[in-house]
Amino acid sequence: MATFTARMAPLLVVGLALCLSGTWAVDKGNFKTCEQSAFCKRQRALKPGESPYRALLETMELTNTRLTLQLINDNNKVRLLLELYRLQGNITRVKINELKPLKPRYEVPDVLIREPTTEPLSVLSQDENGVVLSLGVESQRVIISARPFRLDIMEGSDVLMSLNSRGLLAFEHLRMRKDTFSYKVTSTVASVWDNIKRVFSSQADPEAEKKEEADPANQAETTKEEEEKVEDGMWEETFKSHTDSKPNGPSAVSLDFSLPGVEHVYGIPEHADTLRLKTTDNGDPYRLYNLDVFQYELYNPMALYGSVPVMVAHSPQRTTGIFWLNAAETWVDISSNTAGKTVFGKMLDYVQGSSETPQTDVRWISESGIIDVFIMLGPTPKDVFSQYASLTGTQSFPPLASLGYHQCRWNYNDQEDVKSVDAGFDEHDIPYDFIWLDIEHTDGKRYFTWDPHKFATPKEMLQGLMDKKRKMVAIVDPHIKVDSNYKIHNEIRSLGFYVKNKDGGDYEGWCWPGSASYPDFTRADMRAWWASMFAYDQYEGTMENLHTWNDMNEPSVFNGPEVTMHKDAMHGSWEHRDIHNLYGLYVQMATAEGLIQRSGGVERPFVLTRAFFAGSQRIGAVWTGDNAAEWDHLKISIPMCLSMGLVGISFCGADIGGFFKSPSTELLVRWYQAGAYQPFYRAHAHLDTPRREPWLFGPENTALIREAVRQRYTFLPYWYQLFYRAHVTGEPVMR
Ligand SMILES: *[C@@H]1O[C@H](CO)[C@@H](O)[C@H](O)[C@H]1NC(C)=O
Repeated sequence: MATFTARMAPLLVVGLALCLSGTWAVDKGNFKTCEQSAFCKRQRALKPGESPYRALLETMELTNTRLTLQLINDNNKVRLLLELYRLQGNITRVKINELKPLKPRYEVPDVLIREPTTEPLSVLSQDENGVVLSLGVESQRVIISARPFRLDIMEGSDVLMSLNSRGLLAFEHLRMRKDTFSYKVTSTVASVWDNIKRVFSSQADPEAEKKEEADPANQAETTKEEEEKVEDGMWEETFKSHTDSKPNGPSAVSLDFSLPGVEHVYGIPEHADTLRLKTTDNGDPYRLYNLDVFQYELYNPMALYGSVPVMVAHSPQRTTGIFWLNAAETWVDISSNTAGKTVFGKMLDYVQGSSETPQTDVRWISESGIIDVFIMLGPTPKDVFSQYASLTGTQSFPPLASLGYHQCRWNYNDQEDVKSVDAGFDEHDIPYDFIWLDIEHTDGKRYFTWDPHKFATPKEMLQGLMDKKRKMVAIVDPHIKVDSNYKIHNEIRSLGFYVKNKDGGDYEGWCWPGSASYPDFTRADMRAWWASMFAYDQYEGTMENLHTWNDMNEPSVFNGPEVTMHKDAMHGSWEHRDIHNLYGLYVQMATAEGLIQRSGGVERPFVLTRAFFAGSQRIGAVWTGDNAAEWDHLKISIPMCLSMGLVGISFCGADIGGFFKSPSTELLVRWYQAGAYQPFYRAHAHLDTPRREPWLFGPENTALIREAVRQRYTFLPYWYQLFYRAHVTGEPVMR
């Protein structure tokens, strides 16, 4: 830690003060509530039952496998284009975009493993109220109602799922910023106004437009109405000291789903909450926005390090899933008509024959992008897992050794320390496979380097481990020290591979090395370059038993809004706003590619990540981030990893012992015992905590820990087989 620059010192002091004072609390003021997130507040203010959207059935076009249909918003006449596909294996895909957006809206790349295979659709019947389509599978149908627009998916006489049945479809169309232009109309540049009008009218309903032109009073009224709707936060938003410039204005999308017969829904990790998701009527929605949350609290819907926008709905009759493919900040509301009822109340309903059908209603709200939703119809949980796997892939099949025990702390001090910890495992006869190095192993937090004094001969160290068939993991984070004497920085800068700030310069923020820039991992050429840095002749001191850990890849920016990157930073022509939840996936993807390439495509890689998205299961392992040495944190590790498994990410674990604070001996032993039955099994500890290698708590406790780790190894072939099944079928390992 001595290498911190003077300017980092205040940050460090705040961190230490919090740790040492023993008060455990996330600083909630650092993170937005829905009310503080302008688009969430706007969208949540909409009331159900007032949908302005109407399906224009006369615009329907059906090719063999693709149905398109225009929707019109009767309030502002803006048209949307609905696309509907039936995909192989009981999946229905619904896409909604603006018919004629001012400029393209972001569609998430690199998450689907391939363009999904479509199957024929056919119209069963049609009149002026709607259309009935066959979904191929006998008796599965989609009913599109025109006024207001609504979509129901049926099997026989049962409604499986309804879209926009509560009328909360919302699509903020891209627009020119009117308030800055309107005053000019009265002056000499009326032509600007004409141009803007032309752009707007090109996407309006031609009939309505004619009417408006015929009636100038009508036109004036419409303009007035639109102007009044400009609210705070549409074109600029300030949170704490950070201003988001929002050059594209409001762009949120939202849709509601009703699930008749469903009492419980699951998934949408990552949250420190129960497996069964709670209703959100009396608080914030669940938030999906990858964030480095210092000292996260349990049992609340706050965002954490990763996001998988997949929800699983389960009832005794059927399991279905919703995959909302959008990488922008997203909030999910859940309500249920049975949530308030006690078990006794439900029983009474049943006895009296007055029970209504249970129903869960959910609503997704994203800040930008389009609506692209995959409805997975099951009917069994296994079917939903394989349906989701057919879209985003399965868990990568890990190297056998990575299913063993991992020993980590921030930090093993030097090569001598590594050697003595390694020897400790032999001396106490505790099996282990991997020893880990955190950020202090580098030369001043310059990743791909080694501290010249503490880790002067890394190959010697790695060879020592290799002689015992053991492995090491070293951390490589995505924040790159801005330092003209650092090769990695110089190359990324000269190749133009850094994320740009809104003014076009390289984006800079504060992180472990002090001033740091962030490679633009959304670029395939950047990822290829990054992968090439893991080659043995590039990453000095490495050998085939060195693997990689990607931390801080939300990305974490200590002095950024909500400790992350500014939303108006640029990745080529896209804003960070559009891609945020994907950044961490790309970092891990490029890193794993590097490990594959350096072995000539022979070795399966092992890469651990903190941030993740849908599809991260294809790449490697995930852990639940910076937890604490508390019993409740041990307990929450179970639903957190179960939730990830339900949405494809099987290789999940929590820091054994807890990262912050120091565990009691009993808690540590119990955590070893519980962790032995979770997929990723790694002990980890904060820099400030006393040492806690397994043999430091007396012979009796050493024996208990030895027994737990040996149980893990006894079941290793079983773990390997479960992972193979996860890899082949998409079934979760932890159940
Ligand atoms: C599709 O759904 C039908 C009816 O629910 C079911 O019988 C069939 O097994 C499902 N097929 C797949 C591939 O999930």
